[in-house]
Amino acid sequence: MGRRAVVSALAPNPEAALEALVLEDQPPPHPTSPRDVVVAVRAANVGWVDLLMTSGQYQHVPEPPYTPGLEWSGEVVAVGDAVTAWRVGDRVIADGLLTGPRSLGAHRKWGGFASFAVAPEAALVALPPELSFEQGACLLGGHETAWHALIHRARLQPGESVLILGATGSTGLAAVQIAHHLGTKVIAAGRTPEKLAIVRELGADHLLRTTDESGAPRRFKDEVKQLTGGRGVDVVYDALGGEVSTEALRACAFGARFVLVGWSATPFVAREGRDPNVLPTNLILMKSIDVLGSPAAIAAHADPALRRTRLDAVLALVKGGLRPRVDATYALADLKDALRAKWESRHVGNVVVHPDA
Ligand SMILES: NC(=O)c1ccc[n+]([C@@H]2O[C@H](COP(=O)([O-])OP(=O)(O)OC[C@H]3O[C@@H](n4cnc5c(N)ncnc54)[C@H](OP(=O)(O)O)[C@@H]3O)[C@@H](O)[C@H]2O)c1
Repeated sequence: MGRRAVVSALAPNPEAALEALVLEDQPPPHPTSPRDVVVAVRAANVGWVDLLMTSGQYQHVPEPPYTPGLEWSGEVVAVGDAVTAWRVGDRVIADGLLTGPRSLGAHRKWGGFASFAVAPEAALVALPPELSFEQGACLLGGHETAWHALIHRARLQPGESVLILGATGSTGLAAVQIAHHLGTKVIAAGRTPEKLAIVRELGADHLLRTTDESGAPRRFKDEVKQLTGGRGVDVVYDALGGEVSTEALRACAFGARFVLVGWSATPFVAREGRDPNVLPTNLILMKSIDVLGSPAAIAAHADPALRRTRLDAVLALVKGGLRPRVDATYALADLKDALRAKWESRHVGNVVVHPDA
């Protein structure tokens, strides 16, 4: 008998969702259609987006009851009669856009915080042999997002400089890795020196604190200018929102590209009629800045061809040596602790749960 997490109703906020989350027994499922694959989950990434979704604050609202866990990896244990791509024993990664709570079809209830998941055969990607199950579970969301923002949207070029806000997070750290691989000057920003020190090991050339000792926001425009020969940065990767975004705008070079990726610092901007994040148009105009939205998931649904290119690019990076960073692993029984740790930004990079631990 396995176990799975269940969200029975959307909660008012992620804290309340954590309280309401339950673990229940899960008998091994059977394929529900001839093209289904049953996978024994070995590792599931604990994502910020999983937390937002449980309270309906992500742009894609799942239908309860469902099992959360957008990104996971595992081993095939059963296949439907019409499945040709996979065999029992294959090691796979779930494509979180085509199966699970972020998908649009019949497999929305099958998330990765479970012993088993059922996915359509087209929603699985072979786990690269270079990666562990844990690393595989953390590959696509973070690295596809970062690639989409830096390469597809910002057209980041070797030799340019890039300021990464939220650099200790899943997508931010992936952005550091990709920007470093490309041969750019990487300035990684965050609130704590201890966490930033780890980001340096993964490719940051410079570390930048966005808060002072008391935790208050600090100005960093001049520091960035100094690091870039007085010009400012060519590209900003903004996963945060709020005041820090405006300061990053001040740190931009003339003609820079400013890529909007997320709003970890302002997670409730879309709720209850609150104002969304606002950027000052005077700075954008006078500095001739391109502000670029970068919705990796929506863009993939809109343009499946782009998705293939992006997946291939990320898998090629793995061949070239890139490894997603897993900072901590938790047993499924401790899922609430893992989700809380993610919500409180306690780790650098990714947090994983092990259903079979
Ligand atoms: N555009 C897309 O396609 C896409 C795809 C995936 C995710 N996202 C979004 O991107 C954002 C980042 O996602 P993620 O998975 O990287 O999240 P994450 O792993 O939780 O990392 C976010 C980072 O932001 C910082 N942070 C958190 N709360 C903060 C606060 N109140 N003030 C200032 N800094 C704070 C933390 O860094 P420090 O503690 O080091 O400061 C943390 O490591 C989220 O908003 C997510 O929804 C967008």
